[in-house]
Amino acid sequence: MAKTTWKSGTMLFPVPPVMVTCGTMEKANVLTIAWTGIINSEPPMTYISVRPSRFSHKIISETKEFVINIANLPLAKACDFCGVKSGKSTDKFKEMGLELEPCKNIKTPMLKDAPVSLECKVVGVKSFGTHDMFLAEILAVNVDDKYIEEDGRLAIEKAGLLAFAHGRYYTLGRDLGAFGFSVDKTKENKTKPRKSKFMEILKIEEKIKDGTLKIKEKKPSLQRIIKNKKQSAKKNSSKFAGNKKNAKPHGKKLNAKPTK
Ligand SMILES: Cc1cc2nc3c(=O)[nH]c(=O)nc-3n(C[C@H](O)[C@H](O)[C@H](O)COP(=O)(O)O)c2cc1C
Repeated sequence: MAKTTWKSGTMLFPVPPVMVTCGTMEKANVLTIAWTGIINSEPPMTYISVRPSRFSHKIISETKEFVINIANLPLAKACDFCGVKSGKSTDKFKEMGLELEPCKNIKTPMLKDAPVSLECKVVGVKSFGTHDMFLAEILAVNVDDKYIEEDGRLAIEKAGLLAFAHGRYYTLGRDLGAFGFSVDKTKENKTKPRKSKFMEILKIEEKIKDGTLKIKEKKPSLQRIIKNKKQSAKKNSSKFAGNKKNAKPHGKKLNAKPTK
């Protein structure tokens, strides 16, 4: 099997397209970042690489904090939009119907609809040429309750996480097993693939919201999910992913090409 060698490039994929909030509750901005990752376990540390020309660069340099909001399918359109429009001239929160919530440890707010939001404190900056890498400690992790199971497990497979590969967005596909599945034959429950019911959940949420959920549509496998969704709908209807005025899970294709 032959391989063609191309000139060097940033062809590492998939990477997570995250929505990074910066600034304060009163004066916030959000931009999309794909150059991010984990760099240390204890203390938990991350980085974001930001071009100095970005409006957010100055804000993060000054406040020395930011929030990494993990993007999922309902946030896909907003995630792309925040990566092609600048806060210099656009109120991205207003345009995309994004709401903010205060964080516990920093002044920068998080996105209300992100399934997971990491509160980050900048501990260093390293310039490499095109991008400045903000090294940061993760001070806290905020998880949307709707993805926490009764036993306390984070059911991240239900979040419809996004991946970015070679200029395109994807949702995660099949679950192939848990960490260590290649060698572990005993912990069957832990290594058994979990089926993501994300699309079904999204439809159920929309139907509950519209009041169009019918008894005959209730598949036995989705009974428990429907019950939970109805309960959380009663508790907090604003938590539904599709309830933002302008946010649409399946947005039109944008023509603009992002430069990372
Ligand atoms: C999927 C995607 C990933 C991106 N990743 C980065 C990145 O890692 N670093 C960066 O500086 N810009 C990145 N961008 C571009 C910025 O998000 C974009 O320039 C944005 O408009 C900057 O917003 P601001 O001017 O309000 O700060 C990305 C854009 C997209 C669509």
